[in-house]
Amino acid sequence: VFLKLVSCGTCLDGRIWKAHGVSFEVKDGTNETCLIAEISANFSVTYVATSQEGVTHFVLPDKAIVDKSSTCGNDTTSPLLAISFETNNTLRMNFSRNSTNYHADKLTFTYSLTDSTLFPNATTSTGPVTVSTAATDIDANVNTTYRCLSVQRFLMPNVTIDFSSVRIEAYAKGNFSKDESVCSRDTASTTVPTPKSTTPAPTKTPDPGNPETFDYNVTGSDGICLLAKMGLQLNITYKTNESQRTSTVFNIKPNFTTTGICGNNSAVLIVTDKDTVLSFFFALNTCEQVYHCSALKLPSSWSQWNFISNFSVHNDSLGYMRASLGKSYMCNSEQKIQVAMNFSINAFNVRIQAFKIDGDKFGIAEECQQDEDNMLIPIIVGAALAGLVLIVLIAYLIGRKRSHAGYQTI
Ligand SMILES: *[C@@H]1O[C@H](CO)[C@@H](O)[C@H](O)[C@H]1NC(C)=O
Ligand SMILES: *[C@@H]1O[C@H](CO)[C@@H](O)[C@H](O)[C@H]1NC(C)=O
Ligand SMILES: *[C@@H]1O[C@H](CO)[C@@H](O)[C@H](O)[C@H]1NC(C)=O
Ligand SMILES: *[C@@H]1O[C@H](CO)[C@@H](O)[C@H](O)[C@H]1NC(C)=O
Ligand SMILES: *[C@@H]1O[C@H](CO)[C@@H](O)[C@H](O)[C@H]1NC(C)=O
Ligand SMILES: *[C@@H]1O[C@H](CO)[C@@H](O)[C@H](O)[C@H]1NC(C)=O
Repeated sequence: VFLKLVSCGTCLDGRIWKAHGVSFEVKDGTNETCLIAEISANFSVTYVATSQEGVTHFVLPDKAIVDKSSTCGNDTTSPLLAISFETNNTLRMNFSRNSTNYHADKLTFTYSLTDSTLFPNATTSTGPVTVSTAATDIDANVNTTYRCLSVQRFLMPNVTIDFSSVRIEAYAKGNFSKDESVCSRDTASTTVPTPKSTTPAPTKTPDPGNPETFDYNVTGSDGICLLAKMGLQLNITYKTNESQRTSTVFNIKPNFTTTGICGNNSAVLIVTDKDTVLSFFFALNTCEQVYHCSALKLPSSWSQWNFISNFSVHNDSLGYMRASLGKSYMCNSEQKIQVAMNFSINAFNVRIQAFKIDGDKFGIAEECQQDEDNMLIPIIVGAALAGLVLIVLIAYLIGRKRSHAGYQTI
């Protein structure tokens, strides 16, 4: 008999399963780590494809590795972190420093359209394409870890890269320093975005009604890894002035340019609507054989509402939509997914299944608590009615027996 050993290290960190960033380390000639990073990144690349308009979305894969061209630098060259993944795709970050701060000067992305997994049906077969940013706002004090959990967007020609859950230390000494330089977005993330003074914020937005239910699926090399059916409504709270807050609610109407990513222990559903890109991260706990929605990301540019344009949220410690592997999660009741203080999602008629899916059909449903609670009321009412019927019946039978007995004595 063989015992199947399952690595449970990560199960220990509570019930919550995080969508971790991918880790990288650059070492110098004496094996000392000089550059260390943890990065989670979402890429979107526009390219020319045969069948449809080519827009691809992918995440920095777990398999990404430190490229040989990475260096700790010396007196003449600056440190470089080069990350390569899939076929010939490389993300590079150059660092420099002065006496107090270090800084990522530039982000460069080289991608190869011949990589058909990332760029399906690309028509260009020319060599690799390289794009870069002018400057970055990755800046930290020397001897501290740069930390930015919020989404940080880098715009390049045809390419958008969204970093999140980032920890980086350049000029490091073996490991991350305990002291952190936290990016301004993280320190500001608990505050509600304030409106730009020029645009009067609406004090009341019309009720959009319940959202329409849409079907979603994410297909990887081994078939469908995520199947969903749901209606989504976003709720954003913002300040109308110093003292007043209001919320706006709107429904998601996806346009299906994007789908998501299939990984071994993580799957991503990317819902794209006109101005919104909403990523649902699902994590699989291989020890307990359960999956759940562990993270949500929303970088958006709501140009129609100046007062909340460039709103972004990222929370990677969620525990919603939990179900057993091979089964589907179902919730007919309206479900509120609180992502941040100023942002929640109302989900309607949810049926979702991730990782193990038999063909393209949902497995047995595991209902959410709200549905079970809602079921309880009809059950109680039903039981009470049944009880009443029984009492009436017994009373009738007793009555009948008594009257029979009455006749017999005559
Ligand atoms: C660095 O470490 C690796 C593995 O830990 C080892 O194989 C290699 O020989 C070491 N190199 C030096 C220069 O110490
Ligand atoms: C070092 O660089 C930072 C920005 O990266 C800047 O704010 C600071 O003033 C610089 N310090 C010196 C001493 O030049
Ligand atoms: C950073 O640490 C090194 C040694 O660990 C020290 O020599 C240096 O002065 C420190 N720099 C700052 C700006 O604290
Ligand atoms: C939107 O969020 C606010 C603040 O949490 C809440 O008061 C309001 O009831 C929510 N609206 C809807 C329709 O969910
Ligand atoms: C879907 O939305 C994306 C993002 O805004 C946009 O680039 C794309 O053109 C849209 N696709 C369709 C088919 O409307
Ligand atoms: C993430 O979501 C959880 C659960 O809703 C919440 O407790 C936590 O405060 C959120 N974190 C942030 C940074 O908003």
